[in-house]
Amino acid sequence: MKGIRRFLGQFTGDQFYCGLDIGTHTLKASLNRVADANTLELLAVNEVETKGLAAASINDTGEFSSCVSAAVDGIVRKTRRPLRDIHLGLGGEFIDTRSSRALIPLVERGNKIVSAGDLRYARAQARMLGVRLEEEVLADLVQQFKVDDVNIALNPVGLYGRKLEVETLLVVANMTRLRNLTKAVRQAGFEVNDVHFNAAAASDAMLDKRRRTDGCVLVDLGARTTMILVFKEGLLKHFRKVAAGGEVLTQRIAAALNIPFPLAEDIKKSYGRVSDGAALGQGGEEILIKKEQGFVPVKRDMITMAMEPDVHLILGHIQAAVTESGYEGQLKGGVVVVGGGALLAGLMERVEAQTRMPVTLGRNIPGLNNAAVYCVSTSLAEAGYKNTFRYRLDAQKPKDWWAAILAKAEEISNEYF
Ligand SMILES: Nc1ncnc2c1ncn2[C@@H]1O[C@H](COP(=O)(O)OP(=O)(O)OP(=O)(O)O)[C@@H](O)[C@H]1O
Ligand SMILES: [Mg+2]
Repeated sequence: MKGIRRFLGQFTGDQFYCGLDIGTHTLKASLNRVADANTLELLAVNEVETKGLAAASINDTGEFSSCVSAAVDGIVRKTRRPLRDIHLGLGGEFIDTRSSRALIPLVERGNKIVSAGDLRYARAQARMLGVRLEEEVLADLVQQFKVDDVNIALNPVGLYGRKLEVETLLVVANMTRLRNLTKAVRQAGFEVNDVHFNAAAASDAMLDKRRRTDGCVLVDLGARTTMILVFKEGLLKHFRKVAAGGEVLTQRIAAALNIPFPLAEDIKKSYGRVSDGAALGQGGEEILIKKEQGFVPVKRDMITMAMEPDVHLILGHIQAAVTESGYEGQLKGGVVVVGGGALLAGLMERVEAQTRMPVTLGRNIPGLNNAAVYCVSTSLAEAGYKNTFRYRLDAQKPKDWWAAILAKAEEISNEYF
């Protein structure tokens, strides 16, 4: 019943989509209004500290539920729009990835033209073969197509062949954890419309087809995890998940200055600066830090030095992902970095120096500070809209419909005659 109401709701009045990025450090919510098929206007964002989560599991449903409620109610208050359902986004510690492949015969004798339906079927097979009983697939990212054992760059639809092989990266989440998440969201007074993989939603929204074909890298630098996705020829060529992010940098500062974590976090955001390679010394700027014995002067370079080993480690992983993709020097689309970790002063310049590629910070959302933090949640709202039937109607002009009908007719005629 709810499904029918939701479906019909697509066709009445303005369209609003809410994305909720479940981070280990903070929950980020955003509300977008559909202006037209290509433009989602951002109405409000809100960020609250994550509580009630430990190692990607809810350890206190009440506390986590209150967090969800605070995050979403914040945007409801700002926009005065009641919200029913939200699009959840998971990443980092919540997800597991594994490669899966499927080979399907296209025709018994001779050969036939590969259709969009064949691709869908091959991907569905790869999903079924790769997923385990207790898991749910959040995303399947195609890494390779082969027609008659030959690698096909881009899309094989329209080629002649006898068999089609697809290799995908499955992004899965544990079903029990998902159920608990959904329960906590319901307890907060909202429905989960869909659950997405953060980095897939972000790359769909921020990396257009041209950029993925030219080759580019998406880095999501969160609190506990960094995710690196390398695209080329329109497909995902490499994925790397690193168990390090902004939190470890804060821990280093806390240990070096012998101060509590929350104070180290504030200091990192206000004074943290990644080394630009110039020698760090005893001279340089000093800042005053409040300790038990009063204000104590600390050299700013000390903060830089404390973070350097882990900055080096994270940069090394980004470089390794590019190298392992096999497309080093061929990624013309550059690097896009999202996530709060990307805001650390000087880090983008270091990524640029390390990868020797142009680096951009998230997505430019006019009027929004720290857009890198929120662009995942806005991408989730966008993914929510793009999965609807209404989007298909909005995005296609009458001539596209005509072309689609002709393509379908051709597909059926190729299939049966
Ligand atoms: N202005 C800033 N300067 C430096 N670091 C920052 C800044 N703002 C946020 N961060 C860091 O970004 C990290 C949080 O980023 P983000 O909100 O993307 O993580 P998350 O999504 O909660 O975590 P994860 O993706 O690992 O689950 C924290 O480590 C925080 O210290
Ligand atoms: Mg995150």
